[in-house]
Amino acid sequence: MYDFRMSTPVVESVLTEQRSFPPAPAFAATARVRPDDLAVLHAEAAADPQAFWAGLARAEIAWRKPFTEVLDESRAPNYRWFADGELNVSWNCLDVHLADRGDKTAIVFEGEPGDVRTLSYRELHAEVCRFANALKARGVERGDRVVIYMPMVPEAVVAMQACARIGAIHSVVFGGFSAISLKERIEDAGARCLVTADGGRRGGQVIELKAAADKALAEGCASIDTVFVLRRTGEPVNMRQDRDVWWHDAVAVQGAHCDPEWVDAEHPLFLLYTSGSTGRPKGIQHSSAGYLLGAKLSSRWVFDLRDDDVFFCTADVGWVTGHSYVAYGPLAAGATIVMYEGAPTYPDGGRFWQLCVRHGVTIFYTAPTAIRALMKLGEEIPARYDLSKLRLLGSVGEPINPEAWMWYHRVIGRERCPIVDTWWQTETGAIMISPLPGVTATKPGSCTRPLPGIFADIVDDEGHSVNTPDAGGYLVIRKPWPSMLRTIWGDNARYLSTYWDKFRHRYYVAGDSAHRDQDGYFWIMGRIDDVLNVAGHRLGTMEIESALVAHPRIAEAAVVGRQHEIKGESVFAYVVCRGARPVGEEAAALTKELRDWVTEQLGAIAKPEDIRYADNLPKTRSGKIMRRLLRAVARGEPITQDISTLENPAIIDQLRG
Ligand code: WT7
Repeated sequence: MYDFRMSTPVVESVLTEQRSFPPAPAFAATARVRPDDLAVLHAEAAADPQAFWAGLARAEIAWRKPFTEVLDESRAPNYRWFADGELNVSWNCLDVHLADRGDKTAIVFEGEPGDVRTLSYRELHAEVCRFANALKARGVERGDRVVIYMPMVPEAVVAMQACARIGAIHSVVFGGFSAISLKERIEDAGARCLVTADGGRRGGQVIELKAAADKALAEGCASIDTVFVLRRTGEPVNMRQDRDVWWHDAVAVQGAHCDPEWVDAEHPLFLLYTSGSTGRPKGIQHSSAGYLLGAKLSSRWVFDLRDDDVFFCTADVGWVTGHSYVAYGPLAAGATIVMYEGAPTYPDGGRFWQLCVRHGVTIFYTAPTAIRALMKLGEEIPARYDLSKLRLLGSVGEPINPEAWMWYHRVIGRERCPIVDTWWQTETGAIMISPLPGVTATKPGSCTRPLPGIFADIVDDEGHSVNTPDAGGYLVIRKPWPSMLRTIWGDNARYLSTYWDKFRHRYYVAGDSAHRDQDGYFWIMGRIDDVLNVAGHRLGTMEIESALVAHPRIAEAAVVGRQHEIKGESVFAYVVCRGARPVGEEAAALTKELRDWVTEQLGAIAKPEDIRYADNLPKTRSGKIMRRLLRAVARGEPITQDISTLENPAIIDQLRG
């Protein structure tokens, strides 16, 4: 059993947080969801959840063929929503706006060097159609997998929407992942097409995506027959005649019309790989209609989107946030979005605020790690910018510590803007627990309450609801919801064991621990499994350990998370070498080598911050590594666990270093 007393929240003061911020009357008066609306939504959802979702699905989605069945539970927990309906997601994000909003700006893009490009809904529609035709011309069909490995440029969204248009299933791989990670994902998905770019720009550097893609393809990926290459940096790249096609050449010969492929509601829209505690990354599979409904509704409810808003979600399309709140949700809602290619601190820590001023951003959504990093640079920087257009701020990815929350509120929101702390996951597809900005009084560090139709609960090890204020438990969702994941690509058994087996298929188990206060507000405490949350992104300890032991000098490795001022958690690795334990300069050199090695294997995000060398690792007599002990040592906490079962107690002093 997971011992909730042992879990150390990232922020200990959450337990004593008493501040509360009701919505400003001016905001509440014109909000899309007001207190009475919310009460009605909650009441309808509680009375008949299926009727609630069916009504919204009919109102929000343009169906080619209406559905007659709402929820198919016959193969639960492989739930199916609106299954006999037919639609096209790209149609719902683009074509539906052409009559009323054709000339409205859909995307404002700014590259790291400062180049700006805008695309109206009509222009975006044309680009999507052209690229969809280019995909078809290379034989890509409904159901084929297309991997997208791109910088944060409009063409990334164009490629995603083009896949949706023709019924191909995209799988975006974050441009910061290494060639080896890319290869693994391409092979797991069995993709036939890769969409990439010569490179992208980040932090003043060129990220050579095509070179990484070449490396991935040279080592396997036999299923790939076409690689589209966008010219972004202009740096030279190798093009393989029979396989590689320049994006601009491919679209130049295509027309700006492409009939959408009508698909079943349950047709997979995309796969997105995410880390688990064991084994390889999981291809989280999302549906078309249910996903679209969740992304669209939550965009409107939580971000209060209206026609004159400019919405800047800073997430890369390589993460789920960039799917739901860049590529799909806001477009389905007809909003104007800002996309930024580069680093938040390039050329200095004012870049986000400069972007907000330059493009008139009204709604800004980012991660606590970015807030903490910018906070550290001092409040003089944001003070130089006129942020008076901002009216709503959002946070996602990990618990936001009250100090960062208050800074965000005071220095960025100028005490005017509500903050929505949104809890959700790659698997949930859309925001699940969040304040509604015109209704909910917020508390720094709490994601507050579930959205209407989301039956979140906290349960103990037996599955009983925990109702004692502040007592921790497993965060679960009691009823299926439309934007939920459908399965893990190619591994339904893992879908069942990861999310459902724990409570005999009755509840979805999120893998987070949480507690509820006397007002019923949820406070997320962190992950239950051995998964780290580094800079708002999930990393499996197993993956990093496997990468480390793949190095010829390493015999054994154990990775744990340690609190990090900016990243939330950082990677702390304990390693046992083959041969003698290195010390002094030899250890320093090996540390550098191992950090580069992990970067090469997995990507810079997984690079260990600390590496400690030991003669062996603390194990129980049955041979299990005592991770909780290692975590306590890494964090410099007192060791409270029973070490009497330790095979080799003397090791503890060495681990302490
Ligand atoms: C995990 C999901 C959802 C998009 C970004 C990450 C943590 C996410 C919050 C929040 C506390 C949060 C959870 C969750 N998390 N948002 N507002 N408060 N924790 O997506 O990589 O699928 O990670 O991120 O631990 O399980 P992801």
